Amino acid sequence: MSLSDRWRKHLDELRSQGRLRTLRTANGVDFSSNDYLGYGTLRLTAAAELSRSGAASRLLRGQHPVWDEVEAALAQWQRAEAALVFSSGYLANLGLLRTVIRPGDWVASDARNHASIIDGLRLAKGQRFVYRSLGGLDQALDRARRRGLPGRELFIVTESLFSMDGVPAPLESLVDLARRHKAHLIVDEAHATGCSGKRGRGLVGAGHFTGDVLATVHTGGKALGVPGAFVCGSAVLRDYLVNRCRQFIYTTALPPAVGAWWLDAIERVIGDDEGRERLHANAGLFREALAERGVRAPGESYIVPIVLGDDARAVAAAARLQAAGFDIRAIRPPTVPDGTARLRVSIHADHDDATLRRAAAAVAEVAS
Ligand SMILES: Cc1ncc(COP(=O)(O)O)c(C=O)c1O
Repeated sequence: MSLSDRWRKHLDELRSQGRLRTLRTANGVDFSSNDYLGYGTLRLTAAAELSRSGAASRLLRGQHPVWDEVEAALAQWQRAEAALVFSSGYLANLGLLRTVIRPGDWVASDARNHASIIDGLRLAKGQRFVYRSLGGLDQALDRARRRGLPGRELFIVTESLFSMDGVPAPLESLVDLARRHKAHLIVDEAHATGCSGKRGRGLVGAGHFTGDVLATVHTGGKALGVPGAFVCGSAVLRDYLVNRCRQFIYTTALPPAVGAWWLDAIERVIGDDEGRERLHANAGLFREALAERGVRAPGESYIVPIVLGDDARAVAAAARLQAAGFDIRAIRPPTVPDGTARLRVSIHADHDDATLRRAAAAVAEVAS
């Protein structure tokens, strides 16, 4: 069978399971993107003079001074020793995990973690353990520590706000477990960066855990509205990544203009307490309007999952919402566990009250 035939066969199987995805142009009021603070639609003029290609890896000609400025600003914002920009959050997770975790090490990953973490851990080749409870994690850490060969390092990897569930990770307990078992904690802040904590630092900063984590991963493409991502950690971690991280080394630098966007975004997000307040207030309003109609959604955040269970039901519900002018998408397995297909509503700071109420009414209608 040719490669094309193999791919076609797989696509046919997905189609018959109702799991075939197609690219769809955005339409209707945005309730699906991660542009939480509404920055994605702003114009950035400072970028114009820097608009040239990234041209090469940052280890070659791709290193533009703007990145030093950006990384210094990111480290200062996050109160970290150092920061390193990656081309995307997917690459940041792959690169960080693959570089830091060596074969022979042991790593625990929350069952709800994003695909980029799962793929990073596959590349890393450490011994993996997927945890579903803190009790299970505690026992597994204990076993791993007692059975460990000399030199084996233990890691825990989690998102700080789970992207498909809208609930926060139990960071305080994870910090405590990591401390007790001498494990390293890595936190992906993709959906919290800009939206939570003082100056929008995220949930690690909000909990005052910055000194307790090995590294945090932050994406630009969500609340910050800029391409790329960054990793925060110690200066030596940064140097190690610059020297050993294939996902940083073997790829073209982002264009310097993107660096100017970053500087603009960092300044804006630090000062945007009002946006964060609106975002959280809007999430509260939407959730309350759903609850009034008898619809329960887990969590309290601006990511509002309405679990419908069946794939086809979720797809049909999303189609009805889209036809009514709300761009709300169905999330199906394997992104979420089997039997938990859902509508994922992404609340933004720039949604107005009336639109939120209309959207909640429409969601309640299709969910009942
Ligand atoms: C938790 C999490 N980490 C990482 C990523 C990847 O980020 P990016 O879109 O910048 O590749 C995503 C994107 O959806 C995410 O939700």
